[in-house]
Amino acid sequence: MAEEHTDRDAGGGVATAEDSLSITDNRTGESYEVEITDGTVRALDLRDVKVSEDDFGLMTYDPGFTNTASCRSSICYIGGDDGVLEYRGHPIESLCENATYLEVAYLLINGELPTQSELDQWTHEVTHHTYVHENIKKFVEGFRYDAHPMGILLASVGALSTFYPEAKKIDDDYERHMAAVRLIAKMPTLAAFAYRHNLGLPYVYPDNDLSYAGNFLSMMFKMTEVSYEPDPRLERALDVLWILHADHEQNCSTNAVRGVGSSQVDPYSALAAGVAALYGPLHGGANEAVLRMLDRIERVENIPDFLEGVKNRDERLMGFGHRVYKNYDPRAGVIKKNVDEVLEVTGKSPKLDIATELEKRALDDDYFTERKLYPNVDFYSGLIYEALGLPTDMFTVMFAIPRTSGWIAQWLEMVDDEDQRIARPRQIYTGARERDWVALADR
Ligand code: CMC
Repeated sequence: MAEEHTDRDAGGGVATAEDSLSITDNRTGESYEVEITDGTVRALDLRDVKVSEDDFGLMTYDPGFTNTASCRSSICYIGGDDGVLEYRGHPIESLCENATYLEVAYLLINGELPTQSELDQWTHEVTHHTYVHENIKKFVEGFRYDAHPMGILLASVGALSTFYPEAKKIDDDYERHMAAVRLIAKMPTLAAFAYRHNLGLPYVYPDNDLSYAGNFLSMMFKMTEVSYEPDPRLERALDVLWILHADHEQNCSTNAVRGVGSSQVDPYSALAAGVAALYGPLHGGANEAVLRMLDRIERVENIPDFLEGVKNRDERLMGFGHRVYKNYDPRAGVIKKNVDEVLEVTGKSPKLDIATELEKRALDDDYFTERKLYPNVDFYSGLIYEALGLPTDMFTVMFAIPRTSGWIAQWLEMVDDEDQRIARPRQIYTGARERDWVALADR
């Protein structure tokens, strides 16, 4: 509990008496001063607020962590009210305009954009670690033909930890760097193997002559040709899509990576937890749900009835709303432009007309504007994936590939953060106590 505030705060400034919160506990009449740093109070400071010496002390109750900062981070900034997203201070629009995905991955992990020679080295390293051990291939082959590719990805990312046991030396800079390179390099390979497994097609090995996105397209779609030539417009569209999905501060999967990583497990296992969290329909699975919704709506004329269903709470408008953005998700704006470019290559999708009209009507409707529900990144990304010929099961896998760089950056930051301890929340116990044993025959 802060008394006088003469100590330095995290920003390097001198905290003053005004940077505090006065609390009066009406149960006891006692007053307390709690220090405010960066607009937050330390939950542990509240532990001093007690009704008696043996009282445990006051806790906060925050299911879903809606008002709890779990860490300090300098990776990703979201201005939810203004629709702003920045990686290491670079606006997302500028990165999508100017950078490649690998450049952005480097930025997220290292904090600065790479110089030419750093980028060359980084690209070389990632390109030369795209192969997976043949036993991983056999492991993927062991799944049923209709296994969900996210299930395959989840298991195979976890399995990687057994191939690189030295990764458990999480304080070793070299091992950390190699884990980062390997995870970014191998995730597209695992994703493409999962896809080809579902189709019963032979797996295509990585092609080191292609770009990161071009190699992925080759591993997915190469058939009998000697070498696959990716369409540069699709390569660029994928890169932009991956830049948009690379990080998003403390979302559900990143929180899972940090939470599991806080046990000091190796990074492959920590990232497998991220893949598992991303699998859920309220997180990475939403783009799949958007396509299913557009399928159900079927025709533009059915939109009013569908929106009535949403307002009556029979339906949810998938791809709308966000825990943090209470404005247009800036990623949705960039993706919308991207859809047109992809459809130029792949041909028009009738679902785009339904999506465009649905967005227009929802944004004209008080129900959605009053609740600050705007399109999020997933509203249009599914249309691009569909245009690329991907089955809906693959959509979340497409999200996991780029989010890998964000997860690693966040994991690295967590490992070095002296404030971090094993994630272990408290609970409010609501169950029975000290019950008498009843013999089986008497129950
Ligand atoms: N359709 C209809 N109503 C909605 C929607 C929606 N998509 N989203 C929120 N609402 C309503 C909700 O019913 C509530 O209304 P009321 O106050 O009358 O009860 C109000 O808006 C506030 O919603 P909330 O559930 O408190 O918001 P949340 O922050 O807990 O949930 C969300 C955020 C993303 C889970 C939710 O908006 C949602 O389910 N959206 C659809 C799924 C989706 O598109 N998810 C992708 C998120 S973006 C990808 C990512 O960054 O991971």
